[in-house]
Amino acid sequence: MIMGYSHYGKQAEVWKHLPLCDIIAQEQPTTYIETNSASANYTLTHTPEQQYGIYHFIEKGKENPVNNSIYFRLENEAMQMNQYIGSPGLAMSILKDTCQYIFFDLDTEALQNIEEFGRKQTLTKQIILHNIDSLTGMMKLLPELSPNAFIHIDPYVINEPGSNGLTYLDIFIEATKLDLKCLLWYGYQTHNEKRELEELIRSSCKLENKHSISCHELTLKIIEPDTQPCTPGVLGSGLLASNISSISNTQIGKYCDLLIDLYKGSSYRGYNGDLYKDIIL
Ligand SMILES: C[S@@+](CC[C@H](N)C(=O)[O-])C[C@H]1O[C@@H](n2cnc3c(N)ncnc32)[C@H](O)[C@@H]1O
Repeated sequence: MIMGYSHYGKQAEVWKHLPLCDIIAQEQPTTYIETNSASANYTLTHTPEQQYGIYHFIEKGKENPVNNSIYFRLENEAMQMNQYIGSPGLAMSILKDTCQYIFFDLDTEALQNIEEFGRKQTLTKQIILHNIDSLTGMMKLLPELSPNAFIHIDPYVINEPGSNGLTYLDIFIEATKLDLKCLLWYGYQTHNEKRELEELIRSSCKLENKHSISCHELTLKIIEPDTQPCTPGVLGSGLLASNISSISNTQIGKYCDLLIDLYKGSSYRGYNGDLYKDIIL
């Protein structure tokens, strides 16, 4: 049995989901694919990680321009019922019946949760669930996708090959070459890990100019070269985006800056919770 996903509502989820909502609303895909879906919604439990993540975001967001965002509106509403909405739930709440959804996960309970969430929104006919390894499933699916598909790749580890020898970064590159719109999230715990991933991303993303690729990172200032001072989830994470509009890319950059402001003076278990950004591509 696979353990359920436990990182919902942490700070890195805020960083991933805040731009994701605007991007999909802007790009209006006709097919939305998630390689690593996890559940559509979760019950919040006020853990210190969630306090530093979604609770801090909603509380401080009330006096910050992020309160105009789709993400703020949806999570603020969900929080009244003690819920956090994960990326499959956010996508379905935004795109509704304008879109087909394809969700991959190895965890059957997560897929059942998505099915239930979709049923409540009368989206059952729009949803395809794949309880298989998405590294294999995606290579089969990629050539069949229409150009207006949007792929959200969210495995955490992007550079470890699966049983078919491919990594999630390989899937991102293949999808990018096919002109598909992609967003890939990755995390890291140390400065050395961060630097290694950045080198890999820079060398892997040397593609033809026609593919616009951006990469923004938000990192806790307390990150260390080789050791992990605390565990708010991850000490930093990045968003790699391809073939999306310049409006969407600009929005990612704006949200980086707004989150830096919103987290100024914050703390996690007594550690300084301030963030800084890097633009890798
Ligand atoms: C980082 S979570 C996804 C979080 C979610 N996308 C969100 O933003 O709300 C990763 C998920 O990937 C799933 N997973 C791990 N390996 C997988 C694989 N090879 N194929 C499909 N899903 C996988 C896990 O079961 C877990 O639910």
